[in-house]
Formats: sequence, C-alpha cells, structure tokens
Amino acid sequence: MSVAKERPRKVTTHVLSELKMRGEKIAMLTAYDYSLAQIVDKAGVDVILVGDSASNVMAGWETTLPITLDQMIYHGASVVRGVNRSLVVVDMPFGTYQGNSKEALTSAIRIMKETAADAVKLEGGSEVLESVERILSAGIPVMGHLGLTPQSIHKFGTYTVRAKQEEEAKKLIADAHLLEEAGCFGIVLEKIPAGLAGQVAKELKIPIIGIGAGNQVDGQVLVLHDMLGINQEFSPRFLRRYHNLFAEITGAVGNYIDDVKGLDFPNDREQY
Ligand code: KIV
Repeated sequence: MSVAKERPRKVTTHVLSELKMRGEKIAMLTAYDYSLAQIVDKAGVDVILVGDSASNVMAGWETTLPITLDQMIYHGASVVRGVNRSLVVVDMPFGTYQGNSKEALTSAIRIMKETAADAVKLEGGSEVLESVERILSAGIPVMGHLGLTPQSIHKFGTYTVRAKQEEEAKKLIADAHLLEEAGCFGIVLEKIPAGLAGQVAKELKIPIIGIGAGNQVDGQVLVLHDMLGINQEFSPRFLRRYHNLFAEITGAVGNYIDDVKGLDFPNDREQY
C-alpha cells in the first residue's frame, strides 16, 4: 500500500461543508501545545481550535484580552506540528483586527505564515466585516464567532447567555448572514438560546458550531482543559466533563512525592 493511501484524509473547509450537507455533526476541541494536539488529532477530532482561551487555561489570565499575537503564533505553530488530519484554526487575539482592516490582514498573514495553520477565527459581525473581507481577499479562510464574544467582556460586563432579547437576536441573525455572504467557511455561536442557534444553522449553508448553543447546530466545540477536568474552576451548565484529570494528576504527583520521600524511587532497576 502506498504511503499516500495510509495517510488519513485531511479535514479541509470543503470537508466541513460536506459534513453539514450530509447531516454529520462536526467535533471541534481546543488545543494549545504539541503533545495534546497529537492526542486530539489521533483521536479523530475534525477541527482543532487554537483558542485565545490559551490566555485563561495556559497563562492563567482572567480574560482572553492579554494574550498577544506572538503568543498565539507560538501556540499555533506548536499545535500544527502535532497534527496530521484535523483542520487547525487559530484565534486572532484582541487588538489585532478590530478597527483597522490593514492591520487585520497583516496579523492574519503572520498567523498563516508562522504557524502553517489552515484558517483564522475572529469575533464579531458587522463591526469587523471590513477586516473579515480583507483577510478573505488574501485567500485566508475565516471562521466567525458570534453570541458571547469573550474579547468584549468589558462591554458586556458578564458571561451570561447572550441574545435572549429580540433586538440582540435579530442582530445576531443579520451578522451571521453577513459573515456567510462575505465568505466565512463557518461560525462559532457561543452561549445563546438553543432555538436561536438552530434557526441560524437552518438558514445558513455554512457549518455552525456551538458552545453552550444547544443541539440544533452542525457541531460542537469545548475547551479541552474544561472537558478533561484539568480546570476545576469553570463549570457552566453547557460543560460536560469527560474526565477528572485534576484528581488523576494530583494522585499521580502525590504518589511520586511519597515514593521520593519514602526512598522507594528510584529503585535498583531504575538506576545505572
Ligand atoms: O478561545 C476559545 O477557546 C474559543 C472557544 C470558546 C470557541 O473561542
């Protein structure tokens, strides 16, 4: 068998639209480093998001605002080196695309050149449309992000569910259409009512990926550290924990400490 035939089929934006067309849900997770990206890719996830949630889970900041473009590029390049099959999307960090479409394009080009990722994601609708269009004009695939947009947390003042009121819901639907018409290949909808997310997924041809947006969308995304239970402080209703790695790792580290202090490690077979 040729090497080419053994390689898994690389997920592209075209593959994602095929998945939507045939009604197969898209599985997306975040990753920020080489080792975990390798595991997530081998497990078969369709899309890996190098989220600016790295600011929270990797760097310990309270919001996503402090992470820099250089830091996102470091995480993005680390992830790409661990991935064979998944589509890799890198978040454009706060301050690198809002209000200046030329700077947005420069930032997106740096991400694509220096990480070898497949696409970028940015938050917002009509406010960032010019930036979205300019990035797309360079042939860079763009994913949108509407609903709860964490880079605007200081405007919202709270992480509660967005677009519950009619006016905000209408703007979200209009923004989703604008992003699709501009040429985005997909949109993340974060923390909005399930019915509204379902309506957007039905009206749009591009895949709609939800986080806290119910089960009527085309796929789901979670932050890896949250779903693995590494991060214990964050437990919104939408989060399903698949493991308690905090407890597992604490136990393993505790055993190591006991072995070192009890003179059990290293034993005769573990030395030269
Ligand atoms: O940064 C991130 O992890 C995200 C997801 C919450 C969608 O944008």
